[in-house]
Amino acid sequence: MVDKLIISPSILSADFANLERDVKLVENAGADWIHIDVMDGHFVPNITIGAPVVQSLRPVTKLPLDVHLMIENPDKYLESFANAGEDIITFHAEVVADVKQVIDQIKSFGLKAGISIKPKTPPEAIFEFLPYVDMVLVMTVEPGFGGQSFMQDCADKIPVIRQNAPESLIIQVDGGINAETAKICVDLGANSLVAGNYIYKAPDIKAAIESLRA
Ligand code: DX5
Ligand code: ZN
Repeated sequence: MVDKLIISPSILSADFANLERDVKLVENAGADWIHIDVMDGHFVPNITIGAPVVQSLRPVTKLPLDVHLMIENPDKYLESFANAGEDIITFHAEVVADVKQVIDQIKSFGLKAGISIKPKTPPEAIFEFLPYVDMVLVMTVEPGFGGQSFMQDCADKIPVIRQNAPESLIIQVDGGINAETAKICVDLGANSLVAGNYIYKAPDIKAAIESLRA
């Protein structure tokens, strides 16, 4: 298990006209990773950013870039994302026929691989892949938008995954994370938290990040 709780602010809630400023803002406030939500308007009803933006962000921060692909056919785009310079790519297990093949493809680029499950996907659906991934991302909202409310029943998947996973697995939670829901997730066995609105809309970003570790 990773010793430190990994806080990964989602730039979905940042000011897109000032991404460099907003990435540096959370880096200086103690963030561990930068979470980048990639949406295609098909897998989710929203469109955000693609590989060129990831590439532009690479030189502005020393932090690992944590790319969350909410797209159909992620295998088609892996190479362009890999070349953009992120450190970990997470894709949705629901959208690919051969999950193991996509994991292997991500690893062949020298990157860490993560798989994510939506609220209605049971944890058992990914048990067979747990030995091969670096991270599982448990969605605690329906993917697509920031600022939604945390779904407790999704968080209840965390211990089920933890019990069936190698010790080194990172379990990340994404959606509706604030100081209160962060504690629930960490107590259930999560060791990485994504937060968009809670961090970027906070009057004091450093205090908001610290409150997630409390
Ligand atoms: C939602 C995204 C999240 C989103 C979280 O589909 O995957 O990363 O930015 O936003 P908050 O923390 O505001 O719920
Ligand atoms: Zn995300």
